Amino acid sequence: MKEKKGTIVAIIVMTIMLAAGIAGYTQTVKGSATPTRILYNTNAGKVFFDHKYHADEKDYNLGIDCSDCHHAYEGEDELPQSCVECHEQGAEESSRSEVLHNQCKGCHESEEKGPIECDGCHLM
Ligand code: HEC
Ligand code: HEC
Ligand code: HEC
Ligand code: HEC
Repeated sequence: MKEKKGTIVAIIVMTIMLAAGIAGYTQTVKGSATPTRILYNTNAGKVFFDHKYHADEKDYNLGIDCSDCHHAYEGEDELPQSCVECHEQGAEESSRSEVLHNQCKGCHESEEKGPIECDGCHLM
């Protein structure tokens, strides 16, 4: 009996640590700082977008220009807006998920790199 209790406690502790680890590793879209990683919770499974890997300096990462994705972005002194400012979630046309699918998959297709299949982006 004692051993079983120990195991349960260990599992609980591990679960808390895992949850804290995931929360620290990812970042939600809220706020205005340039995100490092974004996690989308969708009803088709979570999508993990490594913003820094896509956008940061080419020597280390893909080095894609900000405005290639933030197509409405002009000013250097301000940060780009969130897509949802103009592409409302659930809108009939150009909803956020629609334009994200078009942009993410579109580039992966034309570059012939990066996931195109559903489960390449939708994990868990
Ligand atoms: C490969 C595409 C891509 C590139 C390149 C990219 N971003 Fe993003 N960025 C996104 C996506 C997608 C989001 C999430 C927006 C959303 O879900 O509404 C985002 C979000 C952001 C946000 C948060 C906006 C908010 O207030 O919610 C900022 C700030 C930002 N990016 C800045 C930058 C900067 C600065 C660069 C260039 C160094 C850059 N991004 C390059 C795709 C990109
Ligand atoms: C300031 C407003 C604004 C912001 C912010 C914005 N867009 Fe757009 N976007 C538009 C407008 C306007 C169009 C053209 C009309 C349309 O299709 O809705 C458009 C069109 C598009 C299209 C082509 C049409 C389609 O349905 O595929 C894509 C892809 C797209 N946007 C992706 C994004 C992504 C991804 C972000 C965030 C990184 C973003 N947009 C941020 C205004 C914006
Ligand atoms: C302008 C081009 C471009 C856009 C836009 C783009 N990607 Fe990518 N992505 C790439 C390239 C190129 C690779 C492959 C890198 C390699 O394999 O060397 C990649 C790789 C990936 C990978 C696998 C590597 C990793 O980070 O785990 C994922 C997942 C991914 N992209 C998700 C996304 C999502 C989600 C979006 C939209 C929010 C997106 N990408 C938008 C170019 C793009
Ligand atoms: C390149 C990455 C990528 C691929 C490939 C991809 N998705 Fe997505 N998907 C996303 C992102 C990013 C979102 C989050 C959009 C949001 O929250 O606005 C999303 C959201 C969704 C949603 C939620 C829509 C909503 O309005 O809430 C569904 C359903 C979905 N995808 C289904 C699919 C299916 C089915 C496939 C394969 C045919 C697929 N996705 C392929 C990146 C991808």
